[in-house]
Amino acid sequence: MNIILLGPPGAGKGTQSKYLEDHFKLKQLSTGDMLRHAVATGSPVGVVAKSYMEGGKLVPDDVVVGVISEAIDALPKETAGFILDGFPRTVQQAEVLDQLLVRIGKNIDAVIVVDVKDDVLVKRISGRFTCAGCGEVFNDFFRLPQAEGVCDRCGSSSFKRRSDDNSDTVRERLVVYHQQTKPLIDYYKVKGKLHAIDGELPIEDVKRRINEIL
Ligand code: AP5
Repeated sequence: MNIILLGPPGAGKGTQSKYLEDHFKLKQLSTGDMLRHAVATGSPVGVVAKSYMEGGKLVPDDVVVGVISEAIDALPKETAGFILDGFPRTVQQAEVLDQLLVRIGKNIDAVIVVDVKDDVLVKRISGRFTCAGCGEVFNDFFRLPQAEGVCDRCGSSSFKRRSDDNSDTVRERLVVYHQQTKPLIDYYKVKGKLHAIDGELPIEDVKRRINEIL
């Protein structure tokens, strides 16, 4: 089973991806995580991506398409499927993805759009922190670890915050989402693959809703 999680920054795509990895044994492919890794290691992709990400802009399509194509090609044959988290983000990326899937003989089974209002997203992003060990997502306001300072998922006691989670960049990321990514909702509606869910429900209810869809 291969799925796309679509939604604005802070909608909960990363949060639900971790659940889907554990529950359905799917592999999360997050272009944001891949690009952040590229920036941190100073790779040629990272050098190009850095200023776009810091400004809340989209990294050019050809760069991102190269990154995701390599990641899909590298999936072990026995993988149960993948979750595209943060890709595609433009209609052009979606068209390239369609071609890539034909080439490798795979399908997208469902596109789930997680809908959340902008003012809620800003609060979520300002409180976000993640486990440095496994990437599990937490929040100062909505989801603290069950034991203080210890990741619920892997037991690590090391956490990090993202440099693009500041108020100016978040505002720009929201503008970019509405202008460039939202048109994908119609793109996948026409293909009959779109399922919309209310991402403002509590995390456990969003999980339940995704479960029902899948
Ligand atoms: P990326 O890393 O993909 O960021 P994003 O899309 O902006 O999404 P986020 O990771 O911010 O949010 P999320 O939906 O995963 O929410 P989360 O689960 O963390 O992209 C970063 C940058 O990389 C882009 O700006 C761009 O420059 C570049 N990039 C990436 N992909 C690209 C592409 N395809 N093309 C071009 N450029 C690309 O949740 C947020 C918080 O809310 C957490 O603290 C969580 O605990 C909490 N939360 C989650 N769900 C709920 C809930 N239901 N109730 C209450 N709190 C909740």
